[in-house]
Amino acid sequence: MSRLKCILRGLDFKTYIFLLVLVPLGILGVYLHGQKITYFLRPIWESPPKPFQILPHYYHNNVSMENLCRLHGWGIRESPRRVYDAVLFSNEVDILTIRWKELYPYITQFVILEANSTFTGIPKPLLFATNRDRFKFIENRLTYGTVGGRFRKGENPFVEEAYQRVALDQLIRIAGIEDDDLLLMSDVDEIPSAHTINLLRWCDDTPPVLHLQLKNYLYSFEYYVDNKSWRASVHKFKKGKTRYAHYRQADVLLSDAGWHCSFCFRHISEFVFKMKAYSHYDRVRFSHYLNPKRIQNVICKGADLFDMLPEEYTFKEIIGKMGPIPHSYSAVHLPEFLLNNAEEYKYLLPASPLSVESMSFLGRWDELGRFSVYEGKFCIFLFAGLGFLHYEEESREHVGEVKDSHSVFHLLTFFLYVVVAHVLSGVASARMDAHILLAQLYYNRRNPNPVAAHAHGSSLSISFHNLKDAFIFYVTVAFLRLL
Ligand SMILES: *[C@@H]1O[C@H](CO)[C@@H](O)[C@H](O)[C@H]1NC(C)=O
Ligand SMILES: *[C@@H]1O[C@H](CO)[C@@H](O)[C@H](O)[C@H]1NC(C)=O
Ligand SMILES: *[C@@H]1O[C@H](CO)[C@@H](O)[C@H](O)[C@H]1NC(C)=O
Repeated sequence: MSRLKCILRGLDFKTYIFLLVLVPLGILGVYLHGQKITYFLRPIWESPPKPFQILPHYYHNNVSMENLCRLHGWGIRESPRRVYDAVLFSNEVDILTIRWKELYPYITQFVILEANSTFTGIPKPLLFATNRDRFKFIENRLTYGTVGGRFRKGENPFVEEAYQRVALDQLIRIAGIEDDDLLLMSDVDEIPSAHTINLLRWCDDTPPVLHLQLKNYLYSFEYYVDNKSWRASVHKFKKGKTRYAHYRQADVLLSDAGWHCSFCFRHISEFVFKMKAYSHYDRVRFSHYLNPKRIQNVICKGADLFDMLPEEYTFKEIIGKMGPIPHSYSAVHLPEFLLNNAEEYKYLLPASPLSVESMSFLGRWDELGRFSVYEGKFCIFLFAGLGFLHYEEESREHVGEVKDSHSVFHLLTFFLYVVVAHVLSGVASARMDAHILLAQLYYNRRNPNPVAAHAHGSSLSISFHNLKDAFIFYVTVAFLRLL
């Protein structure tokens, strides 16, 4: 206690200013990142759902179907079952093409329902109807239906979603499904691999309801997230019993059965639409989340569109998944149609030497390039750490009671820089530059060597979205220089 008093007495005027700045910034931080804090504490307040029983999945294209079925412990049928694929369509035209091309050989009827309302009650053009000529290849196996939205203001989006799924249930019956046919329930972007469906239609004694474990991708097949997608399912249809649903309906999960590519869109406008349209609209907590520049930047880094923490149940997994998704360089075992039409769907593929050369792969990310904000954050920690060490060394030479208060003071300055850099990174479009500039400012303060300072400072260029951002940035920098 008395030691604390000593420290407090040692604090000088500047430190009080810092405290006055830090406390409000802390409160602002909690306001902006409150959701993150609750997500981070999730392992404490929520336990994971009952784990699935995972069925191993065997496949090679040169192994006979009889062998494959046997490997799974199933018998083989005389003739394959009929398969119905049913989806609710919103705006995923490209992904729908890839899906249907992948499944085409094995599907009896493609059932698709489209509403003129999003789940969040926004009027939506009938996009499938306008793009129908792109899907000529399945025209004779197509059952297309539309449903009028209910447009209830302020209603939970999951209610509209459930309503549309019931309508889809009716459409499936209209399409002519019969008992014992297979019915695929999944979102458009949850694509089972063709060989998985072929296996399930040929083998006997498969589970009546089987969930499919899909590989999770975000924005494109360049960002592989994890293998935890499980919502897609295959049902042996039972009249009066089978209901179209998108939640857990069984405990068995077939491993490695396809791909789930979330937010895999070609145009930024499609991202904005989906963010406003889907059932998790509450995740758009601030309107600037919908800013196209920001979205472009987020995609480019593989960061989270809603600035959320990973939804996991253990600290280990949350921390392991924090930060941007690493780039994947594998395009092995992706949908065949995608690779055979790579030119057209470049934006969905890991950058190939071809696309880097022509830069067309970066088409939607052109302006911002592909640098990582984490390099910038690393820089500030490095610079600030160096500055701090440098100071420590110096102070060791002047042993005395002032040391304590000075350490506290410098620690606070350091934190202030980190916090300010973080805030500024939000306003400067050249995020990394903002971090480096501040790091250098801090480092130069610790090492007042004008030549070095000049050398560092001259290489920077900062750009802003607008005048206001520039103003905030320069005023803050000026303020820091004064300190
Ligand atoms: C596929 O199997 C056949 C015989 O079963 C064999 O002759 C052929 O070399 C195999 N092909 C590959 C690519 O393994
Ligand atoms: C949506 O569709 C329903 C039924 O087709 C129609 O009555 C309604 O006017 C449509 N609403 C909009 C906003 O297009
Ligand atoms: C899912 O991925 C994790 C980590 O990459 C791996 O350890 C695990 O074996 C995979 N599970 C399945 C069923 O493929």
